[in-house]
Amino acid sequence: MSLQQVDAALGLGGQQQLLSRLARYGQEHLLRFWDDLSKTQQRRLADQIDAVDLEIVGRLMREGEGAANGKLLAERAEPPPAIRPAKGETPYPREQARTAGEAALRAGKVGMILVAGGQGTRLGFDAPKGMYPLGPVSRRTLFQILLDRLTAIARRYGTRIPLYLMTSPATHDTTVTFLEANDRFGLPPEDLHVFRQGVMPAVCAATGRVLMADRDALCLAPDGHGGMLGALSASGGLQDAALRGVEQFFYCQVDNPLAPCCDPELIGWSILSGAEMTTLAVSKRDPVERMGNIVAIDGKLRIVEYSELPPEIASRRNDDGSLRLWAGNTAIHVFTLDFFRRVSAAPDALPYHLARKKSPYVDASGQLITPAAPNAVKFERFIFDLLPAAERTIVIEGAKAEVFAPVKDAPGRGADTPEAAQAAMSALHRRWLVECGAAVAADAVVEIHPDFAIDTRELAARIHRGAEVASPAYLCVTAQ
Ligand code: UTP
Repeated sequence: MSLQQVDAALGLGGQQQLLSRLARYGQEHLLRFWDDLSKTQQRRLADQIDAVDLEIVGRLMREGEGAANGKLLAERAEPPPAIRPAKGETPYPREQARTAGEAALRAGKVGMILVAGGQGTRLGFDAPKGMYPLGPVSRRTLFQILLDRLTAIARRYGTRIPLYLMTSPATHDTTVTFLEANDRFGLPPEDLHVFRQGVMPAVCAATGRVLMADRDALCLAPDGHGGMLGALSASGGLQDAALRGVEQFFYCQVDNPLAPCCDPELIGWSILSGAEMTTLAVSKRDPVERMGNIVAIDGKLRIVEYSELPPEIASRRNDDGSLRLWAGNTAIHVFTLDFFRRVSAAPDALPYHLARKKSPYVDASGQLITPAAPNAVKFERFIFDLLPAAERTIVIEGAKAEVFAPVKDAPGRGADTPEAAQAAMSALHRRWLVECGAAVAADAVVEIHPDFAIDTRELAARIHRGAEVASPAYLCVTAQ
């Protein structure tokens, strides 16, 4: 590939810079197939190369994770200070928190952020994860389950709650088409702000060279849920929220059907505590459970990944036998708009994490290779790395059975499967029914649509004590 040939395809000027830029970072191989490409393919490849920050990629490969190394930090990890309502450990009565959250919702001061840009590799579903049909009876998709809850909360409080939905280049078009085809599950068009996160290249772990997905394309992956911060700001989302008077964001991930979207009590605790960032924690089932650990290190809250917490530290127990480092991260947060404004102005607020993953690639002969073992390094930013940047943070404990059932693994494989999440949803709704005095079999498959009831308070008003609930049962307003 000669410089003249690049110039001929792309026009003089910036194209000379392309090859010399690649040479500066030892990445000239990206133009290996140039001569075989059509003009359109050449343009596409050049655009992809332009969009990648090779300087950062090179630096990350040289330095590794450096200071972000969780294993070093784990040695100094302490349990985090936390509000634990179920244990009565609260600075104010629960009702006060609920009232504060309800007032914020009624005043239109709450927005929601939903991140749905991930590739969902472990689930192995051939559409964005949000389109997975998860409802145990209804087969509602993950998107619908969360949006139904959001619109039900908005109706309950007579308010509007804008949704800031993050996609990635891989999930964007399909997601938008799907939501529009379903009338955004009742969300008014002006309340939905979809924005796309950025990408980072996958790099060969052995050579540091950017991998190619095809002769005219780099291996690109979304830049992690932490990419939300920059992308929300760049898309005008923060400005939009400010204009609407939003002060608090409820944040969750698309793969948790139990996420208590815009829960008034959670928002209320954040407001009463004056927290810039709140994290909903659940007690870990066992020391090696695959959850991020919320810990305090040198007085600052942090999350240490399960893979970075040595088993001997994870297994430490209190005198009563409970786990010392008990707090598992649900990836459910409340953030203030002011905090986002402050940190989005600091581009390095979030470090990149390096992960070894399997990444199919095209080799020097143009053949597609599907590796059997991790061959690539990928770079991701995590939203929870904002914790140390927050001036005031709080951790609230929730009951796992009520708030957390992530869908990560493929059916039949691993702990966090769709069927486990369905069973968790069904079990929760069964318990609500029992609490309200209904007769329901212990193994009944039940599902309650949020329009029917968001919680036991609403459910009690809809069913009479002694009501018999069959299996499977889908309690929704239209079915009445
Ligand atoms: P995970 O880290 O579990 O990734 O994302 P994933 O894409 O769902 O699944 P794997 O690891 O490829 O199997 C947790 C949440 O963060 C979002 C995902 O969509 C999911 O809601 N996420 C993750 C993003 O929005 N962008 C990313 O770059 C990564």
